[in-house]
Amino acid sequence: MIISIIAAISKNYVIGKEGKIPWDIPGEKKRFKELTTGKAVIIGRKSFEEIGRPLPNRYNVVVSRTKKFFGQNCTTVNSLSEALELLRKRNEKEVFIAGGRRLYEEALPYAKYIYLTVIDRIYEGDVYFPIFNSDEFIKIYEERIDGPIPYTYYTFERKDKLLNNEKEWENKEQKIRNNEKE
Ligand SMILES: NC(=O)c1ccc[n+]([C@@H]2O[C@H](COP(=O)([O-])OP(=O)(O)OC[C@H]3O[C@@H](n4cnc5c(N)ncnc54)[C@H](OP(=O)(O)O)[C@@H]3O)[C@@H](O)[C@H]2O)c1
Repeated sequence: MIISIIAAISKNYVIGKEGKIPWDIPGEKKRFKELTTGKAVIIGRKSFEEIGRPLPNRYNVVVSRTKKFFGQNCTTVNSLSEALELLRKRNEKEVFIAGGRRLYEEALPYAKYIYLTVIDRIYEGDVYFPIFNSDEFIKIYEERIDGPIPYTYYTFERKDKLLNNEKEWENKEQKIRNNEKE
């Protein structure tokens, strides 16, 4: 199962402010919709509450230890590892980590792809995307969208994942599951 991270960040790595995304740029969410439709998303409780409903046409896995959200295309689990285990059982081919901060941070070592939209502005915020080691990734896609607030779509692919087979990555997933159980 491929683990992908998807996020929109400002030039200074902000992803959120006071529980919201601090920009509203027409068209900017298009890529999120295109990539995740028909797939599974793993999302933190605060981000899920902010959206206010399960994302349609996607299987939503909310991570929370305090609240439960269930529905036809929505379930809640206690941890990232539980989410991954559940989605593997559902035979999902690719799962998108849709934030926030802790899920991004926890999933980064296991992510094959990072789909990043970088808004070409500095924003104030209180939640940041984790700094990741760009040496571990290779940029395989870049598309700049011009407009009043320009932004760029990037795709990064993990370098060693280009070389190694899926089995190795399943073992890594197993490792995070075990770590969490310890
Ligand atoms: N720009 C973007 O692409 C983007 C994407 C997503 C979110 N955001 C923004 O980011 C902000 C929210 O992010 P956030 O980091 O503050 O919160 P969050 O990750 O959405 O939610 C945090 C909550 O999720 C649960 N949780 C997350 N990771 C967990 C884990 N590994 N194990 C167990 N529970 C876990 C916990 O819920 P309980 O407290 O219920 O246990 C935790 O309090 C908002 O401003 C939102 O708009 C931006």
